[in-house]
Amino acid sequence: MILTKNKEVKSKEFYVSEILRLKKELNAVLLAHYYQEGDIQDIADHIGDSLQLAQAAEKTNADVIVFAGVHFMAETAKILNPDKLVLLPDLNAGCSLAEGCPADLLQKFKDKHKDHIIISYINCSAEVKAMSDIICTSSNAEKLVKQIPESQKIIFAPDKNLGSYLIKKTGRDMVLWQGACIVHETFSERKIMMLKLENPKAKLIAHPECEEKILMNSDFVGSTSALLNFVEKDSATEFIVATEPGIIHQMEKACPDKKFILAPPEANCSCNECPYMKLNTMEKLYLCMRDGTPEIILDKEIQRRALVPIQRMLEMSKK
Ligand code: 13P
Ligand code: SF4
Repeated sequence: MILTKNKEVKSKEFYVSEILRLKKELNAVLLAHYYQEGDIQDIADHIGDSLQLAQAAEKTNADVIVFAGVHFMAETAKILNPDKLVLLPDLNAGCSLAEGCPADLLQKFKDKHKDHIIISYINCSAEVKAMSDIICTSSNAEKLVKQIPESQKIIFAPDKNLGSYLIKKTGRDMVLWQGACIVHETFSERKIMMLKLENPKAKLIAHPECEEKILMNSDFVGSTSALLNFVEKDSATEFIVATEPGIIHQMEKACPDKKFILAPPEANCSCNECPYMKLNTMEKLYLCMRDGTPEIILDKEIQRRALVPIQRMLEMSKK
């Protein structure tokens, strides 16, 4: 244990043992996204992509859900479990996609396209979910869009990159909300091409939130769990990974003999790290479990309406 001038800094062992103790005491389940720091992933009950974590939240018998992820993910868990306590270590852990699509502006957009349904990427607020017809994630979006009758017009919100990718994959002509992820838009095509020349055996794999110029050069495109699955199954031994670096933790654990190279951003910065995801720390995780706060609280009516398109997604994902 280290003592600094104003604050006692606790050891990693302290946080691990306290979090595990509190999990038992609270009858809590700890859900962690792949973009969380490795130490948090290592103590989670479920690590997954947005869909897997929503499914885990739907099924849990725990009294308390502790969400090591971002706000929209914890909100989804709350919508699925209105009577449970849902804790998020830092309420400021937002998402640029959710923030770039306010419900009132989406309503104005919808008013201009009255005969369209809204399919919203799960990276959106509860208010936006409440006005959507179907929610999707990057792992089920293509499957869900293909289930919509050809004659039905669609607004896809809020991610224009995932939307464009889906238009290409499904041939559907969707109207796109022009939102983007600040992390996945930073990858440099130029630097990635240089890396490919330097590592000719490496396969480029990318999340569909990346821009088209990255996706069109990729050997594989998929959600975080699909990327993990791909590196485990594929015969290649080197990969350039165009998504948030948190996923490398699981990739290295699953394939210790393979090489993973992070796709670089254009600027000399660490802007390929999600600043929202990284707001959660072991200390904040421990404190939120110790104090029972910060908690996700939603308007009951929004919660009730937002549940409908989420349940639709969970049902359509099974088909
Ligand atoms: P996944 O559903 O692939 O985990 O993506 C979530 C996300 O926020 C990616 O930026
Ligand atoms: Fe949102 Fe991008 Fe962070 Fe994912 S990586 S949570 S889409 S800002």
